Amino acid sequence: MKILSAEFVTSAAGPGQFPVDPRPQIAFAGRSNVGKSSIINALLNRKSLVKTSSTPGKTQLINFFIINKQFYFVDLPGYGYAAAPRSVAEAWAPMIESYLKDSPEVRAVVVLLDSRREPDERDQRLVEWLQHYGIPAIYALTKADKLTRQEAERARQEIAAKLGIEGPLLLTSATKGTGISELRAEVSNKLKAK
Ligand code: GTP
Ligand code: MG
Repeated sequence: MKILSAEFVTSAAGPGQFPVDPRPQIAFAGRSNVGKSSIINALLNRKSLVKTSSTPGKTQLINFFIINKQFYFVDLPGYGYAAAPRSVAEAWAPMIESYLKDSPEVRAVVVLLDSRREPDERDQRLVEWLQHYGIPAIYALTKADKLTRQEAERARQEIAAKLGIEGPLLLTSATKGTGISELRAEVSNKLKAK
C-alpha cells in the first residue's frame, strides 16, 4: 500500500453525519490515550494528519479521512478516560455501536490495546460487538517500545487470553515504527478481501 494522499473529510457525532459513500472503510478503536491517532499517522507516514494529544479523551467525534481517494480511515472516539465528564463517558458506547451497526462499508476494525495495561470491560465489549456484527478485527498492542522483549511477549499472551483472541495480536510502536508494516499489510488484506 503506497500512500499517495490522505485528507480529513469530516467529523460525525452520529449516524446522520456519516459520509454516504461506497468506498471501503477501516476503523480504529481503543481506549483513550492508547495511541490511535499516532498509529494512524504512522500507517500513513504523516507526522500530524491526525491530532495526537497528551490530554486524553479529547476525540469525542468520529473522524473520517480519505486515503488515496480510495478508502477511509475512521478514528473512533476513545473510551475510559477517568476524568471525562459522565456525559462524555457514557456517549462512547452508543456512538461506537451505531457506527458498527450502520456502516456496511467497514471492512475491518483495528482494535488497539495498550501493551502495558490489562484490557477492561469496554475492550471486552468492543470485541463482542465485532463478533456480534460479524466485522473482521485486526488486533494490535501499542507502545511496545515501553516494554522489554520478554515483557512484550508476556503481555501478548496475557491480553490474548483475557480477550479470547485467537488470531494474531500484533506488537506495535508508533514511536519506533515496530510492527507498522505488518499492520499496514493486514489492513491491505482486509481492503482486498470481498
Ligand atoms: P485520544 O484520541 O485522546 O483517545 O488518544 P489516542 O488513542 O488517539 O492517542 P494518541 O495517539 O493521541 O497518543 C496518546 C499519547 O501516547 C501521546 O502522548 C503519544 O505521544 C503517546 N504515544 C502514542 N503512541 C506511542 C508509542 O508507540 N510509544 C510511546 N512511547 N508513546 C506513544
Ligand atoms: Mg486520538
